[in-house]
Amino acid sequence: MSPTSHAATSPALDVQRVREDFPVLHQQVNGQPLAYLDNAATSQKPRVVIEALRTFYEHDNANVHRGVHMLSQRATDAYEAAREKVRAFIGAASADEIVFVRGATEGINLVAQSWGRANVRAGDEVVITHMEHHANIVPWQLLCEAVGARLRVVPIDDRGELVLDALGDLLNDRTRLVAFPHTSNALGTVNPSAEIIRRVRAFNPTIRILVDGCQAVQHTAVDVAALDCDFFVFSGHKVFGPTGIGVLWGREELLAAMPPWQGGGDMIDRVTFEKSTWADLPNKFEAGTPHIAGAIGLGVAIDYVHDLGLDRIAAREHELLEAATARLQAIEGLRLIGTAREKVAVLSFVVDGIHPHDIGTILDMRGVAVRVGHHCAQPVMQHFGIPATVRASLAFYNTTEEIDRLADGVAKAISMFR
Ligand code: ALA
Repeated sequence: MSPTSHAATSPALDVQRVREDFPVLHQQVNGQPLAYLDNAATSQKPRVVIEALRTFYEHDNANVHRGVHMLSQRATDAYEAAREKVRAFIGAASADEIVFVRGATEGINLVAQSWGRANVRAGDEVVITHMEHHANIVPWQLLCEAVGARLRVVPIDDRGELVLDALGDLLNDRTRLVAFPHTSNALGTVNPSAEIIRRVRAFNPTIRILVDGCQAVQHTAVDVAALDCDFFVFSGHKVFGPTGIGVLWGREELLAAMPPWQGGGDMIDRVTFEKSTWADLPNKFEAGTPHIAGAIGLGVAIDYVHDLGLDRIAAREHELLEAATARLQAIEGLRLIGTAREKVAVLSFVVDGIHPHDIGTILDMRGVAVRVGHHCAQPVMQHFGIPATVRASLAFYNTTEEIDRLADGVAKAISMFR
């Protein structure tokens, strides 16, 4: 069953019931009920995910792919079952294309170091966008510096949308790879991924395309086959799974041709001091003991999201986005940073004359958790000529009452600082 199997007409989420699934939400912070509005940094974990980790360690803990004993077999089966869940979740053709990594950051570094060093030469070009998270900038910078390639950047406009027409000017016969975020963590912009990929393919089908799906898979159904990209990454902890586990998907023929990135146990076929040979996919890219419990927990998180229905999640979050946008825009002196026509429920903003950190501190005193800073996207801040924003990022379990508390807290900060 695909993650979008719930009909668009299925009943709306029962938010109060769903909140019961998340133990962490039910606490007081600074004497107030917690309003957790920092979901783009990391999402909270439903009880079933927490229980899955506990059950694994209490009953099945053993290393994978290594033992003939029962626990190792159970651990291996559960780990590989999680890989299959990830495969179905993103529409990959084969579980061999699913590489477990620490997170999206490690997935991008793997591609940059393995595929990149084998395929990008002096004078070649890598295209990224101005709205990247640092994780989709720095690995390419490191690669370009190492091999003498050039990093090119698709600009953004003042809404925080990509200037797509500039993409055509940046592509040329030296372009080897285009990398972009499906959705911006700092701005909430949902990029027209299919259109970007169509344009790159039309220009030159041999250019490789990496999509950073870190802020996408928790909000919308993603199908890598339909997208027609070459690599896709996401982090488990942003989709209600554990930290320290993430996914790199790559087309099988590309992964098969890529050299290993890290060496160690489980990624080899045969080792001698003269020469070693490599395991088949995906083990070739999973050196060392993996985050077994994390992968299993991610599989359970995917089941959880599937059972709620990504269409219902998206509908709920859209309502929250509209409510929060209206409330914040009504505050005099507040400027939303990121007003793209297609957005997820991420609201970055600045307030004239008040540093974002001061607003964040006052919100925290009222039990409202937001992120303040550059959100690991300093070039976005540079575009808007600001050092930082306050960012509220919402999940389906947030409520309009929490949005009211956010807006009231910002109003309070303004009254204190003016
Ligand atoms: N990338 C995460 C964020 O946007 C940490 O906050």
